[in-house]
Amino acid sequence: MDKLLIKGGVPLNGEIYASGAKNSALPILAASLLSDSPVTIGNLPHLNDVTTMLELLGSMGVGVMLSDDMEVQVDTSSIKNLDARYELVKTMRASILVLGPLLARHQEATVALPGGCAIGSRPVNLHIEAMRAMGAEVNIEDGYIKASVNGRLKGSKIFFDPVSVTGTENVIMAACLADGITTIRNAAKEPEVVDLINCLTSMGANIKGAGSDTLEIEGVHSLKGTSFSVTPDRVEVGTYLTAAAMTGGHIKIKSAKPEYLSSVITKLESSGALIQTGEDWIEIKMEIDRPISTSLTTGPYPSFPTDMQAQFVALNSIAKGSSTITETIFENRFMHVQEIARMGGNITLKGNTAIIEGIKALKGAPVMATDLRASASLVLAGLVAEGSTTIDRIYHIDRGYERIEEKLKMLGADIERIS
Ligand code: UD1
Repeated sequence: MDKLLIKGGVPLNGEIYASGAKNSALPILAASLLSDSPVTIGNLPHLNDVTTMLELLGSMGVGVMLSDDMEVQVDTSSIKNLDARYELVKTMRASILVLGPLLARHQEATVALPGGCAIGSRPVNLHIEAMRAMGAEVNIEDGYIKASVNGRLKGSKIFFDPVSVTGTENVIMAACLADGITTIRNAAKEPEVVDLINCLTSMGANIKGAGSDTLEIEGVHSLKGTSFSVTPDRVEVGTYLTAAAMTGGHIKIKSAKPEYLSSVITKLESSGALIQTGEDWIEIKMEIDRPISTSLTTGPYPSFPTDMQAQFVALNSIAKGSSTITETIFENRFMHVQEIARMGGNITLKGNTAIIEGIKALKGAPVMATDLRASASLVLAGLVAEGSTTIDRIYHIDRGYERIEEKLKMLGADIERIS
C-alpha cells in the first residue's frame, strides 16, 4: 500500500495551478444522467472519487469517453440499468447523487446505501424524504434504496434541516424534470451547488435563487447536452495556502477563485499571513517564523468549511498561543487529533471542540490517514515537523487531492510516494 514520506522544514515557495473541484465534478457528472444528448465536462480533477463516479456511470451502460486532458463526454443514450451497486457506492458516499437524476429521468433507481469517509453516521434520510415528498415510493431493502415513481416526479416544497449539500443537489436535479415548481428552503449555498446550477441552466433547466437559501425550480420536459468546465477546488487551494502559512512560505496559486475562500483567507490573515488576490489567483506570504493561533467554528457556506477544519488543527498545533476549533457539521471529525498528538501536538478534545496549545515544533512520526481531510492535515503537519513523517493509507488523500506530492514538490517540499 502506498505511503507518503515527508522530510519537514522546507518553506514552500513557487507557483501552482488549482485543480477542478471534486465536489462540483461529482454532482455535475451525476447531472449528465438527466440529458438526452451528450454532455462534455472539462477541468475534471484526476481523483479516485471522479474515477469511481465514471465507473458508476459506466456500470449502468452510460458511454463515458475520457480525453487526455481530463475532459469527459458522457452519453446516456446507451443506459441499460438503473442500479448503483454496493461495490462502487461503498467507496464513495457521493454516489447517492445518482438517485435524483435516475428517478427524474427513468422513474426508477436502485442505489446502495453509501459508505465514504468515516466521519460520523452521515445518514441519507433527507435525500429519501425529499424523493418521497416529490411522489416517489422509496423502500430500503437489503442495504439498497429502491425508488420508483409513477409518471413524472411532482414539484414540491422541500425544507432541509439540517442544511445538506448533496441533499440540496439531489433535489435540484430531480426537480429539473419534475412536473411543476419545487421550492427548496434552507438550501445549501456552497459554490459547488452554484456550479451545478450553472451547468443545469446551460442544459436548459429553469432554476432561480442560486447561491441563496431559497431555490425555485420549474420542471421542464427534457434537458439538452452542454459543454461545461468545473470550478476550481476551494478546499485544495485552502489546503496549499495553509501549508504555506505553516512552513513560513511564499506561494501563488493560479486558476483559483478567491471569492469562495473569504472565511479561510480571513483566518489565515489572523494567523499572520499576508494575502493578495486577483480575479483568478491568490498569493500568500508568511513573514513571521510561526503562525499566531486562531480559533474558529465550522459551519455551512459562507462560514468556515468543515473540509478545512483538520488543516487548521495542524496549523494551530504549531502556532503561538492557544486556540479552540469547534466542529458543528460532522460528529466524529477529529480523528487527525490523535495522529497529530503522536507527532507531539498538544490537543485536548472536549465534545465537538479541540483545545489546542500551540508548540514550537512537531516531531516526525509514522502516522495513519483516516479520512480525506484528516490525511491532508497530516501532510501539513509532516511538512513542518522536525525529521521524517510517513503517512500510511494515503488512498484517502488520492480520493480528493490531485497529484498532491507532485504539486508540493513543485513548491520545494521534500516529499515522495513510497510503497
Ligand atoms: C458535502 C461534501 C463534503 C462536505 C459536506 C459539508 C460533497 C460530495 N461532499 O457532503 O465534502 O464535508 O458537504 O460541507 O459535496 N445529514 C443528515 N441527513 C441527510 C444528509 C445529511 O442528517 O440525509 C447531516 C449530516 O450527517 C451532516 C450534515 O447533515 O451532519 C451536513 O451533511 P451534508 O451537507 O449532507 O454533507 P454531504 O453532502 O455528504
